[in-house]
Amino acid sequence: MTAHAPSRGDVAVLVPAAGLGTRLGPGAPKALRTLAGVPLLVHAARRLAAAPSVGCLVVAAPPGDVDGVRDMIDIPVDLIVVAGGDTRQASVAAALAAVPPTFPIVLVHDAARALVPPELVERVAAAVRAGHDAVVPALPVVDTIRTVGPDEIALGTVDRSVLRAVQTPQGFRREVLTAAHAAAVDPLTDDAGLAEQIGVPVLCVPGDEAALKITRPFDLAIAELLLRD
Ligand code: CTP
Ligand code: MG
Repeated sequence: MTAHAPSRGDVAVLVPAAGLGTRLGPGAPKALRTLAGVPLLVHAARRLAAAPSVGCLVVAAPPGDVDGVRDMIDIPVDLIVVAGGDTRQASVAAALAAVPPTFPIVLVHDAARALVPPELVERVAAAVRAGHDAVVPALPVVDTIRTVGPDEIALGTVDRSVLRAVQTPQGFRREVLTAAHAAAVDPLTDDAGLAEQIGVPVLCVPGDEAALKITRPFDLAIAELLLRD
């Protein structure tokens, strides 16, 4: 056995799923909208649970749908469902507070990234297990990126070779994520940002295009196409 052999079930995954999905247009909360007839959250939960490291999922559900969410998720690992909060960060904090004490590694994964490959979950978990306190999956940026002034006149081009588009699942040693949330002042859009604010280095590992975030109707259409393959 190597020092960092995969260990089945040492990872709890927090799944913020309480958002409204405003950018997707009118309808149910985004995590409950369907892709190929199955709620986005159920797609995500099944893929997370298919990763051998994952022993527990803690879902932050839309506050009015806690019981319905518990009933709809059919996975072979432990499931805890809590009510989410007004912001993503509040939803993650509520889920983190409910993680059983036995899990040394905690991942945070957006329900909106419904098609996350289990291999990506394992890659992030393995990097935390190997000693990195905070780990994010990231992809190179493909577009040319310009900064603009208030009048939309381009000011210049940014060197994209040093840019990364960051995805989830983001992985943490449990104590690090707890300390990062305890110290949080301004709401941020991800948890690695909170870890950085308390001085924790964040390692980027290769992301996966299949883990795209379903934000707008176009993304839902892409995800439908990916499921057809
Ligand atoms: N989220 C959450 N609680 C909130 C807001 C967001 O748990 N109060 C979750 C969403 O359900 C989603 C993830 O955080 O899985 C990423 O957020 P985003 O993609 O912005 O989803 P929504 O907030 O639902 O979408 P929108 O911003 O378009 O309303
Ligand atoms: Mg949002």
